[in-house]
Amino acid sequence: MDERGGTGLALPAAPLEDAELRALTLEGMAALAAAMLRLGLENPSAPLRKPALATVNAAGGPAVRTVILRSVDLAARRLGLFTDVRSRKVAELRAEPRAELMFYDPACDMQLRLAGRVEIRVGDEAAWASAAPASRRAYLVTAPPGTPSPEPVSGLPADVAGIIPSIERMEEGRANFAYIEFSIAEADIVVLSRAGHRRARIRYEADGEHAEWLVP
Ligand SMILES: Cc1cc2nc3c(=O)[nH]c(=O)nc-3n(C[C@H](O)[C@H](O)[C@H](O)COP(=O)(O)O)c2cc1C
Repeated sequence: MDERGGTGLALPAAPLEDAELRALTLEGMAALAAAMLRLGLENPSAPLRKPALATVNAAGGPAVRTVILRSVDLAARRLGLFTDVRSRKVAELRAEPRAELMFYDPACDMQLRLAGRVEIRVGDEAAWASAAPASRRAYLVTAPPGTPSPEPVSGLPADVAGIIPSIERMEEGRANFAYIEFSIAEADIVVLSRAGHRRARIRYEADGEHAEWLVP
């Protein structure tokens, strides 16, 4: 089978066929989940780079939005995201730190849902240093994200609109920058195939990993 995902772990380039599907073990499902995260991190144009983050809103209802995967630590089972501390999702996560991330790969028709808990670190030095200049600029937006506007706006101050400002100017946005550290408690992996589907759940608990097959 053709594979993607760079070094170590690999992700198929197309949906699994009959024999490949039948050969899948629970360990294989876990390896596919790891490969999805690795591909998302390594390839900026991969759909896996842009998961959906689900939170619980103030009324107890669902709230979901696209975010960019910024870091992956498979050994620690932690992922990193960047956001604006003034955004609604931060208030939601402060009130209810349990969240879900959903990744989908259209090439191999696999879905990975991660349930976990977040920690929010405002102005995090290491995360800020790892952010590309173009992403740092976003935190100079003057009004909080989601503020109504009478006209179409970028929200950026006039002196930085359309340019990448100096490092010093971007530093002024750091107080608005939040690093979301997502700790994975559970993974739910779905593999779609014409030969039949497969689904597995892995729970990460204090006494180790518990993996089981689920009816898709
Ligand atoms: C492709 C894409 C990538 C995005 N990446 C991020 C991101 O990494 N962090 C973020 O806070 N918002 C990101 N957004 C914007 C969010 O989807 C969302 O509109 C914004 O954060 C406000 O969400 P909230 O009001 O629920 O907090 C992205 C949007 C798109 C379309």
